[in-house]
Amino acid sequence: MDEFERHGVAVVSGRNACARALRSPELTSDPGGGSPSVLLRDGDDHARVRGVLRAIIAGLEPFPDSLRAAVEDGVGGLGPAFDLVRDFARPVAGTVTSAVLGVDLDDVFLDRLEATTANLDVFGGTDGAGQAAAFRLAVQLSRAEAEPGGLTALREAHAAGRLDDDELMFNPVVLAHAAYENSLNFLACAGLELASGSSRSVRDMVTAICPARYVLRFGPAGPVAVSLADGLPFGLGRHACPGSGVALAEAEIALTALARRLEGGCEVGEVRWKTHPVFHGLASAPVVVRLRDG
Ligand code: HEM
Repeated sequence: MDEFERHGVAVVSGRNACARALRSPELTSDPGGGSPSVLLRDGDDHARVRGVLRAIIAGLEPFPDSLRAAVEDGVGGLGPAFDLVRDFARPVAGTVTSAVLGVDLDDVFLDRLEATTANLDVFGGTDGAGQAAAFRLAVQLSRAEAEPGGLTALREAHAAGRLDDDELMFNPVVLAHAAYENSLNFLACAGLELASGSSRSVRDMVTAICPARYVLRFGPAGPVAVSLADGLPFGLGRHACPGSGVALAEAEIALTALARRLEGGCEVGEVRWKTHPVFHGLASAPVVVRLRDG
């Protein structure tokens, strides 16, 4: 019995059953309570907020040259010993998330973003710590100076009456979290595959690694966890990831640069995994690059 079943949450698995569930009008993403988050609503309000976010993400399609150069320089500059989470995946995911929002995000911000995830309340209980971290980030972003980019676009959508006050307060954090967390986990796991000698394509790796293992829906008989592990890493239906193109481009660039860095071979030290029931990822994976020519 997995963690969901222990909490009385039904689990749907198998690709066809999951695809049907994700497209079903019977199952909603809205747990009730009127959340302003794009992830936790359906219907016209969801489509309206999603439209604003989709236009922001389209600003990174195709992936901008300056962002490509920043990712390549960062990965190319890794020293002879580094951690695939702390030194590879985190800076790449952080750089891309900064570009999505058009805001400089420091380590404190990224720590809070990860705290939000670690505590993310997936069982409908009351986890104050995760919510507190998300709330602090929302306040921080509401005061942040923004360059052209996602946060400015959200503020403009608010000024134009396309977002209400609550939607403007919380969706910058939702966007930051969506852009950061799954990419962080995917990049680190895929980096470990590379370091272990795999040469699968990025698309095959994201399907196999599946960093977001489940999405939660609510039906007439209660909450349902829909598994994405059978070939649906970006979900499906109304909430399917609008950032999948950016995520794949980001991974292609970062993993190609990492493969170059690891060309001469490497040793992988002790690997530690996170234990979150939804977000599948590494806690740390130290790597030492072999010196070329002895
Ligand atoms: C490997 C990286 C990524 C994976 C595996 C992933 C996966 C997902 C999944 C499974 C969902 C659906 C959630 C649901 O149905 O409840 C989702 C939603 C979302 N993702 Fe991604 N994502 C990734 C990267 C990104 C990036 C880079 C961005 C932004 C640039 C992004 C933006 C979003 C947004 C805004 C949503 C909410 C969509 C909605 O509720 O309508 N994601 N993502």
